[in-house]
Amino acid sequence: MPIRIAVVGSGYVGLVAGACFADLGHEVILVDNDQKKLAALRDGQVPIHEKFLPELLNRHRGQRLTFSDDLKEAARLSSVIFVAVGTPPTERGDADLSYVESVAREISGGVDQYKVIVEKSTVPVYTSEWVRRIILRNGADPETFDVASNPEFLREGTAVTDFLFPDRIVIGCDSARSAEVLREVYAPMTDGSYYLRPESIPQPDRAVIPPPIIVTSTKSAELIKHASNAFLAMKISFINAVASVCESVGADVNQVVNGVGTDSRIGRRFLNPGIGYGGSCFPKDVLAFRAVARECGYDFRLLDEVMRINEDQRQRFLRKIHHALWTLRGKKLAVLGLAFKGGTDDIRESPALHLVESLLQEGSAITAYDPAAMERAREVLGSKIEFASSPYEAAHDADALLILTEWEEFANLDLNQIRKELRYPIVIDGRNLYDPELMAAQGFTYYSVGRAASHPDGVPSGLLRNGKKA
Ligand code: UGA
Repeated sequence: MPIRIAVVGSGYVGLVAGACFADLGHEVILVDNDQKKLAALRDGQVPIHEKFLPELLNRHRGQRLTFSDDLKEAARLSSVIFVAVGTPPTERGDADLSYVESVAREISGGVDQYKVIVEKSTVPVYTSEWVRRIILRNGADPETFDVASNPEFLREGTAVTDFLFPDRIVIGCDSARSAEVLREVYAPMTDGSYYLRPESIPQPDRAVIPPPIIVTSTKSAELIKHASNAFLAMKISFINAVASVCESVGADVNQVVNGVGTDSRIGRRFLNPGIGYGGSCFPKDVLAFRAVARECGYDFRLLDEVMRINEDQRQRFLRKIHHALWTLRGKKLAVLGLAFKGGTDDIRESPALHLVESLLQEGSAITAYDPAAMERAREVLGSKIEFASSPYEAAHDADALLILTEWEEFANLDLNQIRKELRYPIVIDGRNLYDPELMAAQGFTYYSVGRAASHPDGVPSGLLRNGKKA
């Protein structure tokens, strides 16, 4: 049965959730107070680079998916209200919940019959209690609503697929009635019927169909989200620390990852070493979880270390660039990748962008290419760097090529052409996209993370010009 749903906030999570709920068959009102964004959405524009999102928006726009700036009215018309507004970090590192609070205040005016108000944004463990209190304080009858938590685990770049084919659905509810409503929302997924529809989004590898639904208390669900992100960030920092040890002793981190990750208790995923994690979630959520724990009386120092290793990883990469090129003033560097990871145009907390800023400070000239994030990067960097229309144009006449984002396109470069374009055949890869031996055989001096540098004919870096001895 279609359910009337309001989704508040048309950011990453809200927009994807709204489009996917519509695809499940529900009637969705997407609410935002940004008029420009609403007009663009109504007009058919898609504000983020996300596979399958344009299809879903096209399919449902103006029919099962409408847009509004009237939160109170949208709440009145809906049985379930998902809150997916931003929870940015404050200066102290905890989450700023003022948007959540003002949404709760406004929703209370529309609570005229039973509704479930669901936290979809990542929020600290006590938020549901506050949301409840705010709605009551603003005059709603306690019998007419429940507050629940339904954390979202989608990743940018694969958001639609992650939403519709999740490993699990977590619903945190403190009443049987609200749990029943949320079970109904996800029924097309949990009973498997959605996946039988001819027009459903293609099934990814590893999909668990139907996905299991885990019902917990509201507080546990809030914690599941913070703990999941903190654990994944810890996994990345852990392997980055192991990569540093590998560099010291001459071991190969990729081999170590294979050996460690095949233990099913550990798992291979999120063990890719690199230049540290970024994005709008891990940095903010690790910090916020650290702050929540402190507030609740637990000193979660492990998370300090996770953050320290992450920062350090960028500095280590910078030192590697120095090691390869000596001084950086006046050097012309080709940068591949500006987004915080492959498959997205998002540059928030992008380790690639942080590195670009550091390289600029040291006086390097940069020409960058990213398949999706150049427009956004231009808004931040302006004319401080040059933008190229292909990896080869970026590499033209550069002293070295830096790979900073794990785009698939960068793992499949025409190495011959890259070598011809570069002034010196030096590649410094922050994402371990290539095999060191293969790169040496192709005539490159190649640096990566947690693996020994490789040189053509074993000749150390910088002594070759276009693959030939200078
Ligand atoms: C992350 C989580 O993976 C999602 O489950 C969660 O829903 C989301 O945050 C959120 O809280 O909204 P996302 O930030 O989109 O998703 O991106 P990830 O794919 O997790 O990557 C985060 C960062 O870690 C990127 O900078 C990426 O390059 C880096 N990373 C990831 C590594 O350095 N190594 C890895 O093995 C994996």
